[in-house]
Amino acid sequence: MYTKIDGKAVAAKIKDECALKAEELKARGKEPGLAVIIVGNNPASRVYVNSKERDCKEVGINSYEYALPETTTTDELLELIEKLNNDVRADGILCQLPAPKQIDEKKVLNLISPEKDVDGFHPVNVGRLVTGEKGFVPCTPAGIIEMLKYYSIDADGKNSVIIGRSNIVGKPMAALMLKENATVTVCHSHTKNLADITRNADILIAAVGKTKFVKADMIKDGAVVIDVGMDRDENGKLCGDVDFENVAPKCSYITPVPGGVGPMTRAMLLKNTLTAAKNFMSVK
Ligand code: GUN
Repeated sequence: MYTKIDGKAVAAKIKDECALKAEELKARGKEPGLAVIIVGNNPASRVYVNSKERDCKEVGINSYEYALPETTTTDELLELIEKLNNDVRADGILCQLPAPKQIDEKKVLNLISPEKDVDGFHPVNVGRLVTGEKGFVPCTPAGIIEMLKYYSIDADGKNSVIIGRSNIVGKPMAALMLKENATVTVCHSHTKNLADITRNADILIAAVGKTKFVKADMIKDGAVVIDVGMDRDENGKLCGDVDFENVAPKCSYITPVPGGVGPMTRAMLLKNTLTAAKNFMSVK
């Protein structure tokens, strides 16, 4: 029998804690705020931004949306970020990705003040994560660690295999699992004999972006499987990178899609924003 990890329940607990923290900050005269930048008309980005703003409202964080046209230049976006870096209402700043192709995303992410970088994408925060210093950690991997802890899943000494090496998930996930004392392997599109490696995983984290990519014969008996995918199946139904139906019976724990990692990513953004607001209070 496997346990289906309930990301919604863990996220709800974190959101309750966030609501309390927001109250505390307000009582001390600080209204926590998140600036959300969206450039262009990507429909998926619009959905994500709407839910981030709704989440903020639910826990008592002000959100300020900056919706810029599809034709925005990098310089125009940099100018806005400069302004937000100096705006005391914006404790956190996030620019929803992907931005339209004329935008130099690296320049944009690098200009966001590391102290307001609630996505944890700035090289300073990446460096802090890798060296074990305090800083903002990208929301998806941070949320996965919270879920593991909630279910008392100990990664110490375990083989953890991550499929995917993105800056948003794979690489920070590897750093976090190392911090948990796991033995970490990162697989990607050039990896040879992938299934031989994943079959050795006590904790398998799939961040591939391919529908039902992880099959039952790639899984060790009793493994913990975390599915970061947000894909669509042949009927347009939301599903993950893991063939849940066939993989789940081999697992000890597994996250569903939807209702697994997704709600945690959203909750961690709120948590990071409140940390930014609290840090602002203590340096003011
Ligand atoms: N696009 C997909 N995921 C993310 C995320 O976590 N943050 C931002 N800013 N954009 C994204």
